[in-house]
Amino acid sequence: MTIQWFPGHMAKARRQVTEKLKLVDIIFELVDARLPLSSRNPMIDDIINQKPRLVILNKEDMADPAATKEWIAYFKERGIESVSVNSQAGNGLDKIVKAAEMILKEKWDRMRARGMKPRAMRAMIVGIPNVGKSTLINRIAKKNIAKTGNMPGITKAQQWIKTAKNLELLDTPGILWPKFEDPEIGYKLALTGAIKDSILNLQDVAIWGLRFMEDRYPSRLEERYGFKQLPDDMAAVFEQIGERRGCLSSGGGIDYDKVTDIIIRDVRSMQFGRLTLDIPPKKA
Ligand code: G4P
Repeated sequence: MTIQWFPGHMAKARRQVTEKLKLVDIIFELVDARLPLSSRNPMIDDIINQKPRLVILNKEDMADPAATKEWIAYFKERGIESVSVNSQAGNGLDKIVKAAEMILKEKWDRMRARGMKPRAMRAMIVGIPNVGKSTLINRIAKKNIAKTGNMPGITKAQQWIKTAKNLELLDTPGILWPKFEDPEIGYKLALTGAIKDSILNLQDVAIWGLRFMEDRYPSRLEERYGFKQLPDDMAAVFEQIGERRGCLSSGGGIDYDKVTDIIIRDVRSMQFGRLTLDIPPKKA
């Protein structure tokens, strides 16, 4: 399900996350490891305010491992703890509990010092659509409690998923909107399938993807499509890919829509290998 983010929806989503903030000790901010900045909500710092937070880079299996390391270092330099996981396979979930314990250690120590009985940490997952919130909740719950595509606005009683470890997780994630303003971010979100295919011109998305591959992973581009360098004339590129992959229209010419589809599908299905589309900023 894709949510159309009108200003009213944004305000409502924000209100719902804000309301639930007081129920939890820590926020798990889920992002796509291929897009650790582009898949963040633009107002997240403002929304979660001072609440302790762990950034979870999900879909690590699809991201460039070297870049993931750099992103974790990037967050750390800014005082934000982060871990990378693969929620689909259930890899790395222990890291989440360990990091949360570390982040909340002082608070828990203070509670103990005041004679309070230690209790489980309470957490809630927030993130833009498609970053894997429901998959992670299901993995943590080890059964299908969270339905994919929860719409903001549907109210129901809060349920806590009690894990075997010392963590309780709200069963419904906070769904926040992505960054829409920057066209480059739009292309990245579209290329990875984070936003609906009808939102942007897909041919533009595919062309952006090819240029990105040329810039960042040229040998993989050459291996897959046979281009060492892309010519200025992108129509020629589409024609060559179309010929190689048999994308003919009924009239006998190249079917550009099919080629577009192939390029986007190749990125999403990891035919180019593990890619990180947000380039980690160089250290100053
Ligand atoms: P959301 O609640 O944040 O909207 O995301 P959701 O869990 O629905 O996940 C979105 C898509 O991302 C799903 O694929 C899901 O399987 C996939 N996914 C989630 N976590 C991971 C991960 O760590 N690695 C990989 N490779 N994929 C992940 P889908 O194609 O929409 O559905 P399906 O393939 O599960 O049927």
